[in-house]
Amino acid sequence: MHDTDDISSNPTTNTHLDDLITSRINRRQLLGGGLATAAVGFFGSGLLDAAPAGASRNGPKAPPGAGRPGTRLGFTAVPTTTADTVVVPDGYVAEVLVPWGTPLFAGAPAWASDASNTAAEQALQVGFNHDGMHFFPLGTGPDANRRGLLVINHEYTDSSQIYTAAQGEEITPDDDGREKVAKALAAHGVTVVEVRQASDGSWAHVQGSRYNRRITGTTPMAFSGPVGLDHPMLQSNNAPMGTLNNCAHGYTPWGTYLAAEENWNGYFGTDQAGWTRNALEARYGVSAGGFGYAWHRADPRFDVAVNGNELNRFGWVVEIDPFDPTSTPVKRTALGRIKHEGATFVEQNGRAVVYSGDDQDGDYLYKFVSARPWRQARAQGRSPFDEGILYVARFTEDGSGTWLPLVHGRGPLTTGNGWQDQADVLIRTRMAADALGATPLHRPEWVAANQHTGDVFVTLTNGNGNRSRVNSDRDPNPYGLIVRFRESGNANHPTRFTWDVFLFAGDPAYAAAGGKVPADQAIFGSPDGIWVDPDGLVWIQTDISNSSQNRADRGYDRIGNNQMLVADPVSGEVKRFLTGPKGCEVTGVITTPDQTAMFVNIQHPGEATTSIGTPTTDDPTAVSTWPDASAGRPRPSTVVIRRLDGGKIGT
Ligand code: FEO
Ligand code: CA
Ligand code: CA
Repeated sequence: MHDTDDISSNPTTNTHLDDLITSRINRRQLLGGGLATAAVGFFGSGLLDAAPAGASRNGPKAPPGAGRPGTRLGFTAVPTTTADTVVVPDGYVAEVLVPWGTPLFAGAPAWASDASNTAAEQALQVGFNHDGMHFFPLGTGPDANRRGLLVINHEYTDSSQIYTAAQGEEITPDDDGREKVAKALAAHGVTVVEVRQASDGSWAHVQGSRYNRRITGTTPMAFSGPVGLDHPMLQSNNAPMGTLNNCAHGYTPWGTYLAAEENWNGYFGTDQAGWTRNALEARYGVSAGGFGYAWHRADPRFDVAVNGNELNRFGWVVEIDPFDPTSTPVKRTALGRIKHEGATFVEQNGRAVVYSGDDQDGDYLYKFVSARPWRQARAQGRSPFDEGILYVARFTEDGSGTWLPLVHGRGPLTTGNGWQDQADVLIRTRMAADALGATPLHRPEWVAANQHTGDVFVTLTNGNGNRSRVNSDRDPNPYGLIVRFRESGNANHPTRFTWDVFLFAGDPAYAAAGGKVPADQAIFGSPDGIWVDPDGLVWIQTDISNSSQNRADRGYDRIGNNQMLVADPVSGEVKRFLTGPKGCEVTGVITTPDQTAMFVNIQHPGEATTSIGTPTTDDPTAVSTWPDASAGRPRPSTVVIRRLDGGKIGT
C-alpha cells in the first residue's frame, strides 16, 4: 500500500533536491579531484559553522563512516539477518510489550489469534501497526523512569491480518462489510496505555488504568485555527470524527501528543461511474480505487462521490492530551494540510516550532512558527498552534535555504490568483507550496532535532521516481539519505537555513567503485524513523520492507530485515543496534528519561515482501509468525529494550 508514495503527484518543475546535491558534489569534484575528496569537503566544509553565534557546537567533524576513533557507542554491532526475530546486542534484552489486541480496560477481551475479535472488542484493545510513539512519565524523581504513559500511533491495517480466514478480505455492501470497516477503524488511531516496570526490571501494561484510552477512526474531533468546521469545504454528512494513518508523531513541552495524518487519501474511493477527481484531489493522490481498502463499499463516509468533503477533514496534525481521557483531540489547522509524516516540536527563541515532512515522492518539508512565545500564548489561554506562520522549504545549491511563508496575500497567494483566504491556503497547502517554488524531495519522512546544537535531521527515505540520480549506484535513489539543516535566521525573520547531507544510506560495497557510502559504514536502506537522544546520538530506523530496492533479483538482499542503527555525528560512526523480524518495519523510538529502557515498535511483521505492486505472497503467516510462533498470526508490537546491567542504552 505504501508504494503509492513513490509516485509523485507534484506537477511543478521546481528543481529537485537530488539535482542540487548532484550539482554540489560535481562542483566539489571539479575543485578537489575525486569523489572521496568531494564527499569529505561536502560534510566537513563548515557549512554549519554559519549557525548563529552562541549555539554550542557539537556538530560534525568527520563524515559518517569515516571511522574516527573515540567511539561513544559501547555495544557490539549486530549483523544483518533474515531471521524471524528481534536481535539486540549482547548484554541487552528485547521484550514484547502491548502487542496488537492487548486488552486495555477492565473486562476487555483477550486477543484472539484467529482474528475473531469483533469491532467492538478491537475498540477496547491496542490498535494495529504501531508507529510513532512517546513516553510521558508519571510521577517524579526515579519514579518517572519506572512508570509512564506510552502513546502509540497505529498507522494502518492489513486486511490479510485483521480478519478471520472465513471472513476473507473483501469489503461487501452489507453487515459483514460494515463490521469489517468498523474493525479496521477501531484498529486505527492512537493508544494511550500506562506501563510500569516491575522490581525484576521487566515492563508490563496496566490493564484498567484510568489513563488508558483508544482514539480511533470514529472518535469525536474538534478543529481549531484558521480552518473551522464551519468552512464550506469541511461540510460533511457526519459529525467530525476520527484520525487515520497516524505515522510519525510529536510531543510538546506542555505535555500533549501530536498525531500526524499521513496517507489519509488512500481510505477514500468510489465505485460510482462518472466521478472524476478535481485538481485538489489529484494533487493529494485521491483516486476512485484509493489504496484498495474499499471502505466506501460499506461506509458512505468514505465514498468521495457521496460525501466529497469528508476527506478535507484529514491531512492535519491532531493534538491529544494523554493525561485526560475525556479530552477531545483537536486538529490544529494552522499547521497545514498535507500527508503529514510527523510533527516534530522544537522551541526556538521561546516560540513553538513544528517541522513536518510531506511523505510522497516530490513533496516538501514544512515548518510552523507560532506567532508568540508558547508560554505567553498558553498563559493567555490560547493554543500556540492556532496563530502563526506555516513555511515550506526551498533549498539552494550553495548550501543555503529559504523558508517560504504560506500566507494569504503574500507572494503569489493572492485573491487575484484565486486564493480566497488563509483557510483556502491551508486546505490546499500542497498547491500553495507549489506556487511558492518549494523544493521537491524524495519522500521526506521523520524529522528529528538536536535541541542543544540546533541541528535538524530529515530522512528522505528513497525515490523510485524518474528524477532521482543522486544516490544511484544502479537505480534511482534506491536507498535514501538523511539531510541535515540548521536555522540561520532569528525569531523575527526565521526564514533562512543552511544544509548538508548527513549521510547516504546504501551499500558500502560500492565505495571503491565511486559509491557515496563509505566502505566502513553499516549497510542499510530507506531511513524512516529518526530520533536524537539526549546525548546527541542519532537513532535511525529503516523501512525497506515493501519497496522496490528490497529485491533479490537486483542484488539488494544483502540488507536483510529492517533495522535500527545509531549514528554519532561527532565521530561519524554508524552502528547497527537492532534487527527486526521478517516483513516488519522498525519504527518509533523513545526512552525513559534516564535512558535505561527504550521502547521501539515492530510494525507489520509478516507483510509480504513485494516488488512494486507484486506481492510474493498474501499469506502473512508464510512470512512471519513473530512474536509467538504458537499463535501463528504475526502481531505488530512495541518492544522494550533494557541492558542486563541496568545501564544506559547505547553507550
Ligand atoms: Fe508512514 Fe511515510 O511512513
Ligand atoms: Ca514512516
Ligand atoms: Ca516508510
